[in-house]
Amino acid sequence: MEPAIYIDQVVKTYRTGAEDFTALDRISLDIAEGEFVAIMGRSGSGKTTLLNLMAGIDRATSGTVRAAGTDLGPLSESGLAAWRADRIGLVFQFFQLLPTLTVAENVMLPMDFARTVPTARRRERAVGLLDRMGVADQADKLPSALSGGQQQRAAIARALANDPPVILADEPTGNLDSQTAGAVLELFTALNAEGRTIVVVTHERDIRSIVSREIALRDGRVLADDRTPEAAS
Ligand SMILES: Nc1ncnc2c1ncn2[C@@H]1O[C@H](COP(=O)(O)OP(=O)(O)OP(=O)(O)O)[C@@H](O)[C@H]1O
Ligand SMILES: [Mg+2]
Repeated sequence: MEPAIYIDQVVKTYRTGAEDFTALDRISLDIAEGEFVAIMGRSGSGKTTLLNLMAGIDRATSGTVRAAGTDLGPLSESGLAAWRADRIGLVFQFFQLLPTLTVAENVMLPMDFARTVPTARRRERAVGLLDRMGVADQADKLPSALSGGQQQRAAIARALANDPPVILADEPTGNLDSQTAGAVLELFTALNAEGRTIVVVTHERDIRSIVSREIALRDGRVLADDRTPEAAS
């Protein structure tokens, strides 16, 4: 079976003034469908860079990135955007909800873009997803009226708008208190149990108990790649 994510000999070099900086140095890894992977490593180790390549937000300098059945290298910017809207759910540390849209409108936005859900069904689907995340009662508020945890639940509902097989999250609990963080991680566990592939960049040490695999980066290389006991059972 084709892996959900296939990274082969990927190099990412940033051009900064006179010198090039290699943020990812010949990374190769496969993530199978249905895996729940944590990417760890200290600040500057390349976690966000790697996740952004998987999401097609940024491009590899060399090497191959395939995700959710597509080789991202040859895609145009608009091709990448269309592919991402349809196949990838993104969750960020600072939620990134649009401040002038209501919570429900934020969740409808990816549906409006991908046009896979008929117009007349979008609001109903958005409220249903918000309900699943426990924040349906916040649907008609602006994001600024919500707590951090509620905003992140809304952002996860938005990530699910087009029912993506792959969810990529960059420090989704980094801005939440530990209890709220635990609740958010439980939502990811439930989404993984439905068969979605999940990759979470995190500093949370206790994520080990819920993920099936931990990849540690250091200086743009894979330092360790461990399947947790959970996954072996
Ligand atoms: N746009 C950019 N231009 C130049 N250098 C960059 C750029 N983005 C990242 N870098 C550098 O690449 C390295 C990896 O950055 P990255 O953001 O992937 O780290 P990270 O592991 O996500 O760190 P953190 O835990 O702080 O979020 C860092 O040294 C960073 O300074
Ligand atoms: Mg980062």
